[in-house]
Amino acid sequence: MALKVALLGCGVVGSEVVRLVNEQSPELAARVGTSLEIGGIAVRRLGRARGTGLDPELFTTDAMGLVTRDDIDLVVEVIGGIEPARSLILAAIKAGKSVVTANKALLAEDGEVIHAAARDAGVDVYYEASVAGAIPLLRPLRDSLAGDRVHRVLGIVNGTTNYVLDRMDGIGAGFAESLEEAQSLGYAEADPTADVEGFDAAAKAAILARLAFHTSVTAADVHREGITEVSAGDIASAKAMGCVVKLLAICQRSADGASVGVRVHPVMLPREHPLANVNEAYNAVFVEAESAGRLMFYGAGAGGAPTASAVLGDLVAVARNRLANTAITEGGEDSGLSVHPMGET
Ligand code: HSE
Repeated sequence: MALKVALLGCGVVGSEVVRLVNEQSPELAARVGTSLEIGGIAVRRLGRARGTGLDPELFTTDAMGLVTRDDIDLVVEVIGGIEPARSLILAAIKAGKSVVTANKALLAEDGEVIHAAARDAGVDVYYEASVAGAIPLLRPLRDSLAGDRVHRVLGIVNGTTNYVLDRMDGIGAGFAESLEEAQSLGYAEADPTADVEGFDAAAKAAILARLAFHTSVTAADVHREGITEVSAGDIASAKAMGCVVKLLAICQRSADGASVGVRVHPVMLPREHPLANVNEAYNAVFVEAESAGRLMFYGAGAGGAPTASAVLGDLVAVARNRLANTAITEGGEDSGLSVHPMGET
């Protein structure tokens, strides 16, 4: 019997998810062990269905009705923001559906509540697409490094600001002009404040820190400074010192090992550092762990297709777990590390 998927949101990422589920149906069925079928798509306005080539009957404005429908097995949330996403995800979990979400803002604010609800209901919540788009990063942190002790995570996790800083460094372009270019390429959020003021990176830093250090971290715990104050003069001074300016998310265990500091701010990186060579809108995350040593994850951090790739990977995983009647819950353990914005460096 097919597993039925409810999709919440049909924008750039959502429509790509539908396309891939339909186009790759035989491969996905072989990988999962049964076929995946889009059972319904919740949108704000039904006009959204026009021109998609999809059965108009799939579309509904009743998102709550869709996620709680008996025949729905899995829910994919790509609407973003806190509400109504939080209520819909919690209702889906309560109704026994596993959830895949790309919602960094919600996870950075209410991750503990959502994971606790998932543990209670025995369902999965997977969210690889919420940080660094296509880059397989969260599940490696959660699973592959589960037996290691992470000391530090350094990340370029916002493509827009990396693009802006790269243009300022490379061709001496101005801040406003570079931001406009980043927006026209579709990297920036609708409101670029979230990118340039570091809110987007701070939400991602909270998610990374929570996974790396097994303790509750919210966006409010993150010290945040964006790139709006970075001037052409700063870039030139960094250049003269053999450095490049990057907006980094830094999650770091303190020297005594008792606490974690999480912060986002512009950093002057020596040009030989692996993160210094991450150009344009690419993302990269550098992890230092006790036994694994130094690891780097690199790739496209935004965009419809890369983000949909991460969503599809999660969808296959939660579908497999569903068939095996198991769930990978997380967040029940707590390392007891306290979290403070500045941490020790
Ligand atoms: N605006 C974000 C970025 C999109 O520039 O990285 C991906 O979260």
